[in-house]
Amino acid sequence: MSKPHINIDSFWLPSQRSTLAEEVDFGFFAAYWVGIVLFILVTVATLYFGWKYKRRSEDDKTSPIAHNTRLEVTWSLIPLAVLIFLFVVGIKSYVYASVAPAEAYEIKVTGEMYMWTFTYPDGTTTTNEVAVPRGRPVRMIMSSKDVIHSFYIPEFRVKSDVVPGLYTTLWFEATKEGETALLCTEYCGYGHSDMLARVKVLEGAAFDKWLEEQSGPSDLPPAEYGKALYAKRSCITCHTVDGSPLQGPTFKGLFGKTETLADGTTVTVDENYIRESLMTPQAKIVRGFPPVMPTYKGLLKDRDIDALVAYIKSLQ
Ligand code: CUA
Repeated sequence: MSKPHINIDSFWLPSQRSTLAEEVDFGFFAAYWVGIVLFILVTVATLYFGWKYKRRSEDDKTSPIAHNTRLEVTWSLIPLAVLIFLFVVGIKSYVYASVAPAEAYEIKVTGEMYMWTFTYPDGTTTTNEVAVPRGRPVRMIMSSKDVIHSFYIPEFRVKSDVVPGLYTTLWFEATKEGETALLCTEYCGYGHSDMLARVKVLEGAAFDKWLEEQSGPSDLPPAEYGKALYAKRSCITCHTVDGSPLQGPTFKGLFGKTETLADGTTVTVDENYIRESLMTPQAKIVRGFPPVMPTYKGLLKDRDIDALVAYIKSLQ
């Protein structure tokens, strides 16, 4: 499974995948072209005047020009008009982006080191993956469990800090079916660059089906269901299954192993240790690893924990 990524289809900006994107890009390019035109005018005038009024001899005197009212009014009024235009463009999309439509679909977002959790109105939770219906306003109500993160979906042109002890919100209406990425854009620790989520834009019926699948019972054998959860619940960010350590111990050969903990005591990795590590990760930290595992309390059902245990058992 590839990492979530954004779609680049031009040199300039990521593709436009929300109703806000066009507004934002219009504002960006308006300011951009005003800048280009001014740059050319100022540069050409500087070069021309430098050449025309160059002092050519010792007797050259600066001509006694006081002022030119018509010229000064002109060079004040034109920029004023341009600035008012940019202000109107800016305030229009700012207001559009700030006020969510009343009928918006609401998703609760929790940021923490280093993952995103999404809670849907029906209580379904997902980790590092969020699906949204196409053509329907979606409002994100966001908060952080630890430090400041920032919620950024470049292709939707939305971005907002995610702060502990506070709710921030933003909204968007996705216009294109397909996948894009949510990035954390506030440096929050060494796992910051891995704090990504897959954003799926689905048509109405496909969205309902997706939502149902997230919480529906799995008829897979436990170890295979555990393997699916391993990717879906983002264990994959910190734990490999090939024997190499990342931010957490590898799952390969983990079950039954005796681990030395940070305080020097040892523990045998069994069902209860895995369960405890999922629910209260800080209780027993394996020596040599940072205490950065987030708790999955409330996110995993007993059935999910059983499946993860079965999966880890299968990796011998
Ligand atoms: Cu969370 Cu950077």
